[in-house]
Amino acid sequence: MKTAVIYWSGTGNTEAMARAVAEGMTAAGAEAALLTPDRVQPGDLNAYDAIAFGCPAMGSEVLEEMEFQPMFDACKRSLGGKRAALFGSYGWGDGEWMRSWEKDCADAGLNLVCESVICTETPDDAALDACRALGKALAE
Ligand SMILES: Cc1cc2nc3c(=O)[nH]c(=O)nc-3n(C[C@H](O)[C@H](O)[C@H](O)COP(=O)(O)O)c2cc1C
Repeated sequence: MKTAVIYWSGTGNTEAMARAVAEGMTAAGAEAALLTPDRVQPGDLNAYDAIAFGCPAMGSEVLEEMEFQPMFDACKRSLGGKRAALFGSYGWGDGEWMRSWEKDCADAGLNLVCESVICTETPDDAALDACRALGKALAE
C-alpha cells in the first residue's frame, strides 16, 4: 500500500506529529511519503491509497492560508473515496479549527477513516502514540 502524509508546520509541532503518523504507516507495512504542500500537485495524489493531512490552527481558527489551504482546496474534490485522516497541533483555542476542517471534508465527500488527532503545542508521548495509531489505521 502506498500512503502519504501531507503537512504544514511553522514551529515543528505538527511536523513531529506527521513523522509519528508516517512511522505508524510503515509499521503497518505501507510505503509512506512525507510531503509539504509546495511539493504536492492535485494529480500526484492518485498515486496513493491513503493520505493523512496535518495542519495546525492558524489565523483565527483556520488552516494555514498561504500554502496549506490552497493545496487542500485544489486536492479535496479529486480525492473521491480515498482513505484519509486529519491531525494537527493547536494553542489557546478549543479545537474549533479541526471541527471546521472536518465539516469541510464531509461537505467535499472525503472518506475520513478515523478520529482526527489534535494536541496542544508540542505533542507528548500520548499524542505521538495517537498519531502512530492514526497512521496504522490509514494503512490497514
Ligand atoms: C499566526 C498564528 C495563529 C494561530 N492561531 C491559533 C488559533 O486560532 N487557535 C489556536 O488554538 N492556536 C493558534 N495558534 C497556535 C498554534 O496552532 C500552535 O502553536 C501550534 O502548536 C503550531 O503548530 P506548528 O508548530 O506545527 O506550526 C496560532 C499560532 C500562530 C503562529
